[in-house]
Amino acid sequence: MNKSTLYNHLTQYRKTIYPFHMPGHKLNRMFNIKNIIDIDVTEVDGTDNLHHPKGIIREAQEKASYTFGARKTFFLVNGSTSGIISAISAICQEKDKILISRNSHKSVYNGVILNDLEPIYLYPEINHSNGIIGGINPHQVEEKLLKYPDIKLVVITSPTYEGFVSNIEKIADIVHKYNKILMIDEAHGAHFIFHNDFPKTAMEQGADIVIQSTHKTLPAFTQSAMLHINSSNIDCNEIQDKLSIFQSSSPSYILMTSLDNCREILDTKGRQMFNKYAMNLLQCRNQLKNKLKHLKLIDDEVIGTNHISDIDYSKIVIDCSKANITGIELDKILRNDYKIQVELSNINHIIAMTSVCDSKKGFKRLQEAIIKIDSKLQKENKKAYKYDIIDKEHKYYNPKIAYNMEKETVELENSIGKISGEFIIPFPPGIPLIIPGEKISEENINLISIYKKLNIELMGLKDSEINTIRIIREV
Ligand SMILES: Cc1ncc(COP(=O)(O)O)c(C=O)c1O
Repeated sequence: MNKSTLYNHLTQYRKTIYPFHMPGHKLNRMFNIKNIIDIDVTEVDGTDNLHHPKGIIREAQEKASYTFGARKTFFLVNGSTSGIISAISAICQEKDKILISRNSHKSVYNGVILNDLEPIYLYPEINHSNGIIGGINPHQVEEKLLKYPDIKLVVITSPTYEGFVSNIEKIADIVHKYNKILMIDEAHGAHFIFHNDFPKTAMEQGADIVIQSTHKTLPAFTQSAMLHINSSNIDCNEIQDKLSIFQSSSPSYILMTSLDNCREILDTKGRQMFNKYAMNLLQCRNQLKNKLKHLKLIDDEVIGTNHISDIDYSKIVIDCSKANITGIELDKILRNDYKIQVELSNINHIIAMTSVCDSKKGFKRLQEAIIKIDSKLQKENKKAYKYDIIDKEHKYYNPKIAYNMEKETVELENSIGKISGEFIIPFPPGIPLIIPGEKISEENINLISIYKKLNIELMGLKDSEINTIRIIREV
């Protein structure tokens, strides 16, 4: 019997909990792969090489590019993270300007710091009653491109963690009018192409580079992801070179096979599987929409607000802002009393991630649990909270400069008005609340103390207790 700590814990978890979280395979046995050990090989004669593919890996990538609608596809074994950093590094040179949505994942900021780029920010609209981040206004993209004509690359996250899609078609037209490159972090949208109920993909809408975490929403192993090229203006050799820097020199054949296997399952059975999934999903959403009294399923009503042009129905987002419960408490009740684990919980909402691997029984379990919890709640109009970060220009120093500047450590409450030398990143979703070089506001500190009280994980700070922060030393 396997007594290793992780194996024991994880197999026990699988037996007891229903996962409404990633990975998209949902811990079930969708894979045609019976024994993982059989495929854990290395680069030898006949097994090809991810960093210079000429054989089976090249063939698998070509098949994936056809399925996902790209000109060329690169397999990623270090998540979208590696694709995002590699693509930014391939396109931008030191000191270049890069236009990024301020709600970008931390990997975008790491790409900025590693390449010493000058970020210009796009601020998404925020829903001021529940604090959830919306989409990017295409006009804002045009304004920035006009103001900073030397911007090299535009990077936008769409969909967001909550499944909100920006108007990429319009944004792509604008970006191309100014002869720039549009990269979309579509980490949460790898499944879009497989059913009409989901939004149009970023590639269908004209994006040049698209990065998808296959593992998040499709049946593929954690860390397996894809970088798609959708334009003849991108130097694919440069992308390949950078991927060889930022990805392991021993890329996992288990992960690569999982990507190819996922593609094969979807090519052969995808239509039928997705039709069944879309039906189960719709039934679950309808039940939640009609039966919840205090909690609220976020649905089509948000389309057209806060620059959200479409939503991903696969994300079951429950708004708690009008009920006497926080998202964190709802998450705990689901886990403890109903043995359901959701992907994310925050002050005012939770996200249950669904996928084509969820069962009808699983959907029923989720909807019944949420409806039952709701029946015991009461109305409460909570104070609106917002991610202060996103609506204000707080940048003071370039992130790379700030990252390397001399720092001093101060108590959090004494840091208001100072310039941060560190990231503060609530996880998930991995969007920095504060970036090195930004001025720390009172709202930031208040939000951090709420996060601490609610036990929301905060990453990026040297002080793991989150009592102090390193600020730029004043000269
Ligand atoms: C919007 C977004 N982009 C990129 C990433 C990084 O993806 P990965 O975990 O595949 O590296 C994440 C991870 O959560 C994400 O939410």
